[in-house]
Amino acid sequence: MRVLGIETSCDETGVAVYDDQQGLLAEALHSQVAVHAEFGGVVPELASRDHVRKLPLLIRHVLEEAGTLPKELDAIAYTAGPGLVGALLSGICTAHAMAEALQIPALPVHHMEGHLLAPFLAGEPLDFPFLALLVSGGHTQLVLAEALGEYQLLGDTLDDAVGEAFDKTAKLLGLPYPGGPALAKLAEQGSHERWRFPRPMTDRPGLDFSFSGLKTFALNTWQNTEQSEQDAADLAHAFQQAVVDTLAIKCRRALEQTGCKTLVVAGGVSANRALRKRLRTICEERQAQLCLPDPQWCTDNGAMIAYAGLLQLQQHRPVQASPSAHPRWPLSALSDTHR
Ligand code: KG4
Ligand code: ZN
Repeated sequence: MRVLGIETSCDETGVAVYDDQQGLLAEALHSQVAVHAEFGGVVPELASRDHVRKLPLLIRHVLEEAGTLPKELDAIAYTAGPGLVGALLSGICTAHAMAEALQIPALPVHHMEGHLLAPFLAGEPLDFPFLALLVSGGHTQLVLAEALGEYQLLGDTLDDAVGEAFDKTAKLLGLPYPGGPALAKLAEQGSHERWRFPRPMTDRPGLDFSFSGLKTFALNTWQNTEQSEQDAADLAHAFQQAVVDTLAIKCRRALEQTGCKTLVVAGGVSANRALRKRLRTICEERQAQLCLPDPQWCTDNGAMIAYAGLLQLQQHRPVQASPSAHPRWPLSALSDTHR
């Protein structure tokens, strides 16, 4: 079975072909960073238009590289949500038009389920249940993955997502968009000793998060410095340490509470080296297995969507009758779809 995957939920156009026997055959990714950089963030209408421009070229390229004719595809998987509605619609329309022409199923994929499955793309065995930490620009969630499509939300952010907090703090320090990776790089030059930021909501029970206070703490700290390059690096370091510690404390607590022996970490922020290192230590202490995606599959990509689509096809999950975008779509709602 061979599936074409299309990802257009935000500012990356991702396309890939995944085969059940041979794995990932080809993938292509077009980043819109250059389109949005001058605005300091994603401009939704520009994102949609750029997806529409790039999708046909990427699809042709990926099919050629995979040595696959359109008629050899068994399904087209696409991100149906959550995300920017116009951006999602560009992928949805393309996927449904192709599927209709080829008379094959068009499979809606939940973007966060795609992220959650990304660590298994390269052939690592997919064994349920496991605990998943989903950390991206729009999400910070702890999820108990009981089976494919069966996800129980254990903890969520009450305000900003962790990637959003990285991006906003980076902007404060004058770093270019997208801020997360730039802040992480700068943090490597920062001092360990200079500041200690709070670890929000770790002093009370529960698995929820809150990151907006850290952002305000960063703002107040920054305004009381000379705003030198070293100040920026020290602040980046202190901020990142606080985020990493907070996520690690909650992961340890969730591993204890669920008794899970596997922690899966996915989403853009899972590329963060300090976080990867810290979670490795936590998992070693608890003799749990840590599953991380390869760095190129941490952020948005088409491969995770093609792979999630293939699993859906194998699982015979009911296909939606009409194409529709779900800009807001809780992961736990997937269980209702196939009960
Ligand atoms: O999963 P993703 O590509 O898109 C969403 O679904 O949101 O995640 C993007 C987020 C951005 O906020 C970006 O700044 C953050 O992931 N990010 C990072 C790193 N790489 C990407 N944050 C911290 N450290 C990184 N190395
Ligand atoms: Zn994402």
